[in-house]
Amino acid sequence: MENNRESWGSKLGFIMAAAGSAVGLGNIWKFPFTAGNNGGGAFVLIYLIFVIFIGFSVMLTEFAVGRRKNLAAVGAYKSVDSRWTFAGVLGVLSGFLIMGFYPVVGGWALAYVFKVFGGLLTDPAAIGDVFGGFITNPVQPLIWMVAYLLLNVVIVVRGVSSGIEKAGKVLMPLLFGILILITIKGLTLPNAMAGVEFLFKPDFSKVTGAVVLAALGQAFFSLSLGMGCMITYGSYLNKQENLASNAAIVTAMDTAVALLAGLAMFPAMFSFGMEPAAGPGLVFVVVPSLFAEMGGLGVVFAALFFVALTVAALTSSVSLLEVVVAYLMDERKFTRVKSVITASTIMALMCVLASLSLGGVGPKLFGTGAFDVFDLLTDKIFLAIGGMLLCIFAGWRLDKEDLRKEITNEGDIAFGIFEFWYALVKYVIPVTIAIVAVSGIKSGFDSGVGAIMVIGVAIIAIFAAISKKL
Ligand code: PHE
Repeated sequence: MENNRESWGSKLGFIMAAAGSAVGLGNIWKFPFTAGNNGGGAFVLIYLIFVIFIGFSVMLTEFAVGRRKNLAAVGAYKSVDSRWTFAGVLGVLSGFLIMGFYPVVGGWALAYVFKVFGGLLTDPAAIGDVFGGFITNPVQPLIWMVAYLLLNVVIVVRGVSSGIEKAGKVLMPLLFGILILITIKGLTLPNAMAGVEFLFKPDFSKVTGAVVLAALGQAFFSLSLGMGCMITYGSYLNKQENLASNAAIVTAMDTAVALLAGLAMFPAMFSFGMEPAAGPGLVFVVVPSLFAEMGGLGVVFAALFFVALTVAALTSSVSLLEVVVAYLMDERKFTRVKSVITASTIMALMCVLASLSLGGVGPKLFGTGAFDVFDLLTDKIFLAIGGMLLCIFAGWRLDKEDLRKEITNEGDIAFGIFEFWYALVKYVIPVTIAIVAVSGIKSGFDSGVGAIMVIGVAIIAIFAAISKKL
């Protein structure tokens, strides 16, 4: 079986696919509004510290475990000890939950390509209301969500190297270029510097347990960590690749895009006099408003931006779908086609709930709608704890020398900070995540979401208890 495993066509293909997974709505849609909601500079600084010390190390661990075991997330855990199967299955659950709202936002991005041409920019004062009206509409966003999800299905059905790799290679650079363009435009507006200051000047009086947990969750979400995605991608990676440099490149690219997205949004927002805590509508309002000022050419750039955003989202969501699909294929012996259809149907139903919840329709959990519940459970709980479990697993359950061999390609390449990385993975990261999670859950009770977080922890405990049956 191991010899039949699909693998990446080339080194560039892997980096592009892994970076494609990392760079997505998390960077361009979520990062700016999360930074805005959490007070700006201090959040960004904490996020960067987490990315460097936790994100990079966890990504390297995921790559190493995936390639060493040559199996996707669940199989990799299970092959070592069936008591650990739950950690992999938790990742599959995260995949479902993230795909329970991600395609909703992907659908918005897709819809905006067309809305831009449909005259969205001609009435700049209405851009905010158009967005609000659109996402709370009970029908329209669902159509776009399904269209978006179908694009995922088509790519994932075609398998790893042919589908995902090609999409990533062509469209990632386009996104980067457009973001730079938007940033330049934004920085030339009056009062732009106030936005730069908001983003980079830390005000530590704003830091609470909730802010620190939000920064940790953002680091995991943005880097596609803590749910087995990079384990699965690593399992498709060939033995000659340098895992550490791949992890470093992907981490750096992802972080650069997030910071660039922040720089593209905040100067313009401050210039327009918008609230930094504008919420999920931020990119969908700021970017059209910015380009509305440019006249005819603005329409073209705005459309290009949303094309690129859709594609960035796609290269991420296909990796989420792939985790679930790999699980169904490897562990449940489904064919690829059957796996994709089963998974995407469930995801579509979850997305319907998520989308309707934005219009106030549908079931609520402790007063929170489906969209926010899916986001909260994954972003604040499952991914970080998934990362913590992976580190505990790698540090305490795997053989240190095996890890050394995997990361140094059996001694062929050097990895000078191996001992440092190992100490982080074995001790520092698990302890840090535990502390941040506990204090974040505590402050969650102030904002009424603590109970949902506790349910998340309970789900993990139940999974652990029935691990061998999963
Ligand atoms: N990293 C992706 C983004 O930023 C989202 C994602 C999370 C993808 C987890 C895969 C796994 O949009």
